[in-house]
Amino acid sequence: MDATTIEWDERYKEGGSALPWDTGTPAPELTAYFSRVKEAPKNVLEIGCGTGTNAIWLVQQGCKVVATDISPSAIEWAQNKAKSAGVTVDFKVSDISVENPVDAKSVDFIFDRGVFHVMAQEKREHFVQVVHASLSDGGMWLCLAGSADQKREADDHGPPQLTATELISSVEKLFEVHKLAKTSFLTPEGHNYVAWKAIFKKR
Ligand SMILES: C[S@@+](CC[C@H](N)C(=O)[O-])C[C@H]1O[C@@H](n2cnc3c(N)ncnc32)[C@H](O)[C@@H]1O
Repeated sequence: MDATTIEWDERYKEGGSALPWDTGTPAPELTAYFSRVKEAPKNVLEIGCGTGTNAIWLVQQGCKVVATDISPSAIEWAQNKAKSAGVTVDFKVSDISVENPVDAKSVDFIFDRGVFHVMAQEKREHFVQVVHASLSDGGMWLCLAGSADQKREADDHGPPQLTATELISSVEKLFEVHKLAKTSFLTPEGHNYVAWKAIFKKR
């Protein structure tokens, strides 16, 4: 395992407060997306699925889901949760900065909550290319990322923060900006971090 994988995997081995993003409930931005679209996505890729809550919910909505994470411990945890829920998710340990976990144009929707924003700047372009290549024509990407529009105290360790310019300039060549709005990452410990809810459409 490389250093990045070990770092993430240690957090999943520790669990609890080492995983402040792990709310245990489907992301409200994801459920809202499904409640608004005329035709629900059918084939979905979730990148950086963590313990699998959203992937399981997506299967329960009738989607066929591939869900990946760099952390083997996260994927093992997610597999156990899916088994308990009685659903089938194609979980894969996969580093999005190294490989494309699905065939080209094989999914119509991609979900990432807090994954694009953890990518080092030099890896963002590759991430966007993988998302673009994986989506069928006109496919959509729902990306939730920390927003720089929130001043933080120096000791407040929240999610990485992207400016709107950083987010949009990384994707605009390959994606239409369908929607960009503010949302919140609410943590189980009661923090409220301002985040971007971005919906991008493949060009
Ligand atoms: C902030 S957490 C969010 C987890 C999950 N999306 C959620 O909302 O509960 C970021 C996730 O991205 C995963 N991750 C980080 N780098 C990755 C990479 N290069 N490829 C795939 N997953 C990655 C981490 O292991 C972690 O599960």
